[in-house]
Amino acid sequence: MSVVLVTGASRGIGRAIVERFAGEGATVVACARGREGLDALQAALPAVDCRACDMRDAAAVDALARDVLARHGAVDLLVNNAGAFRPGGIASEDDDALLDMLQANLFGAYRLTRRLLPGMIERRSGMVLNVCSTASIAAYPNGGSYSIAKHALYGFSRNLREEMKPHGVRVVALLPGATLTASWDGVPLPPERMMPAEDVAAMAWTAWTMSARTVVEDIVMRPQLGDIGESDFAGSPA
Ligand SMILES: NC(=O)c1ccc[n+]([C@@H]2O[C@H](COP(=O)([O-])OP(=O)(O)OC[C@H]3O[C@@H](n4cnc5c(N)ncnc54)[C@H](OP(=O)(O)O)[C@@H]3O)[C@@H](O)[C@H]2O)c1
Repeated sequence: MSVVLVTGASRGIGRAIVERFAGEGATVVACARGREGLDALQAALPAVDCRACDMRDAAAVDALARDVLARHGAVDLLVNNAGAFRPGGIASEDDDALLDMLQANLFGAYRLTRRLLPGMIERRSGMVLNVCSTASIAAYPNGGSYSIAKHALYGFSRNLREEMKPHGVRVVALLPGATLTASWDGVPLPPERMMPAEDVAAMAWTAWTMSARTVVEDIVMRPQLGDIGESDFAGSPA
């Protein structure tokens, strides 16, 4: 049975991926920071191995990798999903915004991947799936440090894919547009304007089930009506 490790897994896209893979019979390890969210996940899916870890904390990431390998022996699929969004433009955001966004969206993914790659390389199999964003390939006025960090995560994915080709390890970049999760709490938009997280999870599952001879390199998904932009807020309360 495959072992799948999903970061940022107690809500939203990460949780939808956990539900999908657990439902398909995989052994799933899920991490997040908050105990409450993990307890709710554990109650809903008792077979999932739920672990507290802040992906911004290097020592915690090392401990997660060590403990998961000790308990499960191997990780076949790593889903680097944990991330955070902080709105702002480059000219107006705080000086610490870039480091904050890189820590939340890149550094932990980079570190955890490096801890798990040796086993994948040794077995000549495995997959790393990075949850990037359409902000990884689009420039927009209020992209700010979030968009910079997501571009970096996409660059990490592309470089790792090239490096892993001779080792049989596949690297997938998943680039969702607006997806209905708590990230959008308080934003006055109808749910129909966003994709369901289950659709994003379905694409992750499809990429995973391809033969080892195939890698789905980039998965770009958008709401059917397109990216959310200024016109969506015309008429909204200021
Ligand atoms: N929703 C969208 O429209 C959208 C679009 C494009 C890309 N994305 C990307 O998709 C990923 C998931 O987004 P989402 O909307 O599903 O987010 P979400 O609903 O806010 O859920 C985030 C999950 O990650 C966990 N988490 C946050 N920071 C963490 C950290 N430092 N270490 C470990 N876990 C952490 C959260 O739990 P705790 O708070 O308890 O840690 C939660 O389980 C993110 O990388 C996001 O950038 C989202």
